Amino acid sequence: MKVTAIIASPRKGGNGDVLVDEIIKGTEENGAEVTKYYIDELDVEPCHACGHCGDGIDCKVEDDGAKIIDDLLDTDVLIFTTPIYYGQMSAQGKLITDRFYSVSRNPQKEFNGKAVLVFTHEAPTGVYDAYIEATKASPFGHTGWDVVSTLDAGGIQEPGPIKESEDKMKEAFEIGKAL
Ligand SMILES: Cc1cc2nc3c(=O)[nH]c(=O)nc-3n(C[C@H](O)[C@H](O)[C@H](O)COP(=O)(O)O)c2cc1C
Repeated sequence: MKVTAIIASPRKGGNGDVLVDEIIKGTEENGAEVTKYYIDELDVEPCHACGHCGDGIDCKVEDDGAKIIDDLLDTDVLIFTTPIYYGQMSAQGKLITDRFYSVSRNPQKEFNGKAVLVFTHEAPTGVYDAYIEATKASPFGHTGWDVVSTLDAGGIQEPGPIKESEDKMKEAFEIGKAL
């Protein structure tokens, strides 16, 4: 099973990163091969809406975003984490998910995998349910991903305290194990 993790928090070792590692631990029990991308450390341009991509034509931007998209095309499971910044995903999350557009415009390419979405935020768990539902549908469902689980971890601010939350750590591990 090929697993690709996308960390859209700028904080390496932050709460989302910790939860993704726990999900990965669960998947590794099933022999998963994992690649992790920290968007903030990579060169990922936004979608320029230039209209270049289309039937048989890839995005013309040759950056790390193009490599990630290529990797995602044969990924069995995408694990995506973003913090909530002012009520929505981070800029890093938007950078890479907007680049999914070139795949949706090209009938010769498609994402076929399952997706797990992990959201972290300071407001209590549940506050962003409507946003999480909308994000499942678009960009993820809309671009072909089968979103099988979401993990919502609220009430956290500093990097790392999620490790103390036995419930959330267990939920993450179980999500990974079930993949
Ligand atoms: C620019 C910025 C905006 C934020 N906006 C929100 C917000 O709208 N709602 C919220 O609950 N938390 C907000 N937060 C807090 C983060 O979501 C929270 O610290 C989260 O745990 C970060 O996840 P990470 O540890 O995975 O980086 C914001 C933090 C920053 C830096």
